[in-house]
Amino acid sequence: MNSSDLNIAIVGATGAAGGTALKLLLERGHPSDKITLMASSRSAGRKIPYGDDQIVIAEAASDTFHGVDVALFAAGGLVSRRLAPRAVEQGVFVIDKGSIFRMDPSIPLVVPEVNADDIEWHPGIVSTPNCTSTPFVMVLDALRKLSAIKAVTVATYQSVTGSGSAGQQELIQQSGNVLEGTNTDSSVYPHQIAFNILPHVDDFLPDGYTKEEQKMLNESRKILHDESLAISATCVRVPVEISHSESLQIEFESNVTVNHAKRVLSEYDGVLVVDDPSQNQYPMPIMAAGGDDVLVGRIRKDTAHENGIALWLSCDNLRKGAALNALQIMDEALRRDALNPASQRTSK
Ligand SMILES: NC(=O)c1ccc[n+]([C@@H]2O[C@H](COP(=O)([O-])OP(=O)(O)OC[C@H]3O[C@@H](n4cnc5c(N)ncnc54)[C@H](OP(=O)(O)O)[C@@H]3O)[C@@H](O)[C@H]2O)c1
Repeated sequence: MNSSDLNIAIVGATGAAGGTALKLLLERGHPSDKITLMASSRSAGRKIPYGDDQIVIAEAASDTFHGVDVALFAAGGLVSRRLAPRAVEQGVFVIDKGSIFRMDPSIPLVVPEVNADDIEWHPGIVSTPNCTSTPFVMVLDALRKLSAIKAVTVATYQSVTGSGSAGQQELIQQSGNVLEGTNTDSSVYPHQIAFNILPHVDDFLPDGYTKEEQKMLNESRKILHDESLAISATCVRVPVEISHSESLQIEFESNVTVNHAKRVLSEYDGVLVVDDPSQNQYPMPIMAAGGDDVLVGRIRKDTAHENGIALWLSCDNLRKGAALNALQIMDEALRRDALNPASQRTSK
């Protein structure tokens, strides 16, 4: 069997992440009659163009998974909590893009380049990380081959599509309003996002960090299998449409040279080193958007830490940060003959 034989459902197909999953299926030439699209009752009955075809959206419900092999859930935590277990009961392999299952110890959290083996023990659901964690762990996984990592300080520059289609619309609408001098009301963000930045992604916690910053710590430790890794994150929303960027300062146990860092990063699957400051070449969100690679550049010694390396990355949050990572999990599970839950495989 190859992936084009699979009946794939996208739950949340009208949204930013689900819509990108559909785009990726079209790029792969996945047959339209093997795609089921689901969203809320608001969208049920609407048709979404797919190449020369149109696919009708169904309202996501426990009885809409009949005949589905793999379901990509991108409709938020409540929908996943309600419907993902029902889909699994019907033999569907669920890949969840939301945060609800990420830290559940019985559910693997996977970036295939880093921890594909974790797919083997899934109970019917595999979770995908937050769009900031995915490129972050890939870079750390590449570099830890040179020396153990002691601590990482990271600041993110996150695009508005990270808040879904509504964030994107707010930026576009507000930018026009600012230029015209009309109202700049905000509904998605607590303040104006156009021509501004917000050091605030997700809710604040009692310790002063935000939930997004906490996710970067907890998810990275789970994916990298390193509970002692120290991470301090500051997550910032910027008025960029697509692609998150991150500034990393990584402190190693022993000395790591810039040349060695560049070499292991350029050899790592899914990472592309773009680092020629003399030609003004470095990763930027507009360069990463629409592409599959994590772009890494500005690789240099961190002058504030002994054994430190500083670098910069940009990554399309809707592709590798969400939909692409999910499809790669599907491919890897198929390759390993591991679409069924581990319990069903071992009892065969
Ligand atoms: N955006 C990213 O960069 C990104 C990255 C990684 C993970 N994710 C995760 O992906 C999920 C979706 O995020 P998004 O950014 O794509 O959000 P979005 O653009 O707001 O899309 C939300 C989708 O969920 C659907 N939905 C809402 N309520 C529903 C319900 N009761 N039943 C069925 N479908 C329902 C919506 O359908 P209607 O159009 O019918 O309302 C829409 O298709 C979230 O869990 C998010 O954490 C997003």
